[in-house]
Amino acid sequence: MKIVLASDHAGFKLKEEIKKFLGERGIEFEDCGSYNEERTDYVDWGEKAINKIINGESQRGILICGTGLGMEIVANKFYGIRATPCYDLYTAKMARQHNDSNVLTLGGRITDKDLAKKIVEVWLETEFQGNRHKVRLDKIRKIEEKNFK
Ligand code: RB5
Repeated sequence: MKIVLASDHAGFKLKEEIKKFLGERGIEFEDCGSYNEERTDYVDWGEKAINKIINGESQRGILICGTGLGMEIVANKFYGIRATPCYDLYTAKMARQHNDSNVLTLGGRITDKDLAKKIVEVWLETEFQGNRHKVRLDKIRKIEEKNFK
């Protein structure tokens, strides 16, 4: 599994921490920017990263802005993306077990690096539970099919 990463200026520092964390664990990732703390628009970097999931180069993404909210909105504009902002270990676990989240969004101004790393760990290690949750995701897929065509 390859993970795409993106941030704006407000998420840049946390993105660097997450890169270290993934690197230490031998998890493959691609940094889609931004590349410094200069003010920039999260939309552009989020779009760049999500396009790599859409074209099959990557399977999951971690997008970081100030709150995780702008990145979530961008990511969820794409077909098949289930982006979830997670702020604690419970939301990270539920995002995977119930929502089959394929994009995690984090708030660089909200979540400190140690908690963020634990959130990433739980989000990466937790499996989707399927069953009734799959029924619900299938309904979401139907909405996407109506609205994306
Ligand atoms: C940038 O100031 C901030 O608005 C952005 O990082 C993000 O939090 C938006 O949702």
